[in-house]
Amino acid sequence: MSIVEKAVEKLKTLQPEPPVSPLVDVEEPAHPASTIERLSGRARTVDQSAETTPLWHVDQGALERAGLLPTGDEANDRLADELRRVKRPLMDNAIGKGAKVLAHAERIVVTSALPGEGKTFTAVNLALSLARELDFEVLLVDGDIPKCHITRALGLDGQPGLMDVLVDERRQPAEVIVRTDVPNLLVVPVGKRHPLTAELFSSLRMEQVLEELGGRHLRRLVVFDSSPLLATSESQVLASHMGQVVMVVAASQTGQHAVHSALQSLNGSPYVGLILNMSCLPASENYYYSYYGLYPRGRLAGEA
Ligand SMILES: Nc1ncnc2c1ncn2[C@@H]1O[C@H](COP(=O)(O)OP(=O)(O)O)[C@@H](O)[C@H]1O
Ligand SMILES: [Mg+2]
Repeated sequence: MSIVEKAVEKLKTLQPEPPVSPLVDVEEPAHPASTIERLSGRARTVDQSAETTPLWHVDQGALERAGLLPTGDEANDRLADELRRVKRPLMDNAIGKGAKVLAHAERIVVTSALPGEGKTFTAVNLALSLARELDFEVLLVDGDIPKCHITRALGLDGQPGLMDVLVDERRQPAEVIVRTDVPNLLVVPVGKRHPLTAELFSSLRMEQVLEELGGRHLRRLVVFDSSPLLATSESQVLASHMGQVVMVVAASQTGQHAVHSALQSLNGSPYVGLILNMSCLPASENYYYSYYGLYPRGRLAGEA
């Protein structure tokens, strides 16, 4: 059973009628107080408008066709297991249980040196995996403005998104959040593309928007997909706003020099974890993609 199928199964147990169309009105069940809230003694932020917002149907078939979900039970189970190891340190950092306390640890960007290394695949599956955690909700932001792979795969082209709230300061960032029928998964599409993306990403408005999207919500993790670090300047700017960077490295594909340059461009990021993706290892007679958890920053680059 795939990650989305499992999430939809979970949804079915929480609500009597499953969603049948792209936009469906479903009342979200009240969540019990999270562990973080119980431990911290702080009240959960409740978005009143959430009660009445229609839910966007996440079409598993469309995601599979877009190459953003693994196909087959074996690949699925393996990925789910690997993502558990990948997400643990990210969650620990987000709640301040990591090795050091990180500013804006709730902001996580998935990036890589070059195109085709698995950024979008990782961002989507990581977000789905995090959404299954009881103590978090996940906001998946399509931060790859030129390609907008997530936006297209979810059928959200033409919807207002990140770029619209960056361009127009009168717009509330919450307006462009799409609530989905996958429990605990929210999405922000790209919106109307703009030629000055890097400038918009480095603006004060960007910091304001990020604060509204993540910082004010106690149990929310914000996962950004992004464009490649060595192909666009905007992804480096985007990463500079993040508390945590997940850098995907395609095994046997990305040269060491490219990985070094990409890591150098992340200089100043408080936490960088590496994922070795698409590693072909023999599994009985087949070969399969593989993730290997997060490595400490600098290990691949040969730093101390
Ligand atoms: N771990 C993985 N398992 C299976 N397919 C993967 C994996 N990582 C990437 N892919 C596939 O590789 C291709 C490129 O991935 P994508 O996430 O679009 O790369 P990027 O966003 O870095 O350009 C896609 O077809 C995707 O389905
Ligand atoms: Mg991509």
